[in-house]
Amino acid sequence: MRILSGIQPSGALHIGNYFGAARQFVAAQDEHEAVYFIADYHSMTTLRDGPERRRLTRALAMDYLAFGLDPERVVLYRQSDLPEVCELMWIFSSVTPMGLLERAHAYKEKVAQGLPADSGLFNYPVLMAADILIFNPDRVPVGQDQKQHVEIARDVAGRFNHAYGEVFKLPEPYIPPEVAIVPGTDGRKMSKSYDNAVLIFAPEAELKRQVMGIVTDSTPLEDPKDPDGAVFQVYNLFASPDEQAEMAERARAGGLGYGMVKKELLARLLAYFGPMRERRAALEAHPDHVEDVLCDGAGRARALAAPVLAAAREAAGLGRG
Ligand code: ADP
Ligand code: TRP
Repeated sequence: MRILSGIQPSGALHIGNYFGAARQFVAAQDEHEAVYFIADYHSMTTLRDGPERRRLTRALAMDYLAFGLDPERVVLYRQSDLPEVCELMWIFSSVTPMGLLERAHAYKEKVAQGLPADSGLFNYPVLMAADILIFNPDRVPVGQDQKQHVEIARDVAGRFNHAYGEVFKLPEPYIPPEVAIVPGTDGRKMSKSYDNAVLIFAPEAELKRQVMGIVTDSTPLEDPKDPDGAVFQVYNLFASPDEQAEMAERARAGGLGYGMVKKELLARLLAYFGPMRERRAALEAHPDHVEDVLCDGAGRARALAAPVLAAAREAAGLGRG
């Protein structure tokens, strides 16, 4: 099975990104052919700073390598190293009804948040359809918020096939059932944009400050605590089922201080991410290695994409034939 997914370079990664997405990406490399890319073209819809985009793109590549993506087994590439997706996007634009894009929640939300309604933002799902379909993948693992975009890609593939003949497989969004929403330090969903994140590769003192800042209620020390509170939910990510049950028991019994739980959580978090943090620091010292990985990934991505794009051009009557 071929798996494909993209990740936007929009800021430092937090533990929600890891448990909600990155961990699954790394796990998939053992069983499937996996292609992952850093969606720097997509980030142009929200970020207008070139040097910052380049920095974030490289940082994200390092993050994924530090998590354990093995560039020998997966294809990891930078979207803008495969500009062919922009050609496919144009081909798809001409079979995509405006109404389909007007219904996209992400576009409506971003405009409501005050982002300028540029045509790039509007056409975002068409570019996403192109970067999915150019590999004809079987499965596209995404978060809930991206499900509609994959459904649009599916619709676009169907419309192309209807117009020009069967070239594209209809892709399936895949939302892993076991994935929990990780709460942030304020109890809402952890997100880069809410200033409530625990950042995996932040300096240790900062990580400590973030963990110690997780909201708790003002239940007195000796009273029972709600074992479903944010701090326990985050603790559970780093504990076995037995340890989780034991912690919940201690919470219900009373006499357990939140400070102690946070200390225990911090120790576990540092132990869990320690090896990745070390690998990340080592990669930081070798930016050329990261560039080599992305360059090699681009070559392999191009080889996978070329026959699909050639078939689409042929079907659409583009070029000499
Ligand atoms: P953010 O909300 O921090 O900007 P993104 O939208 O860039 O995160 O999401 C990148 C990936 O991480 C997506 O697959 C998304 O589903 C996942 N993700 C983001 N936040 C969380 C969270 N709090 N819990 C679980 N998964 C998350
Ligand atoms: N839009 C996705 C996000 O914001 C990133 C993305 C771009 C993507 N192209 C993709 C994800 C193709 C899956 C497949 O998270």
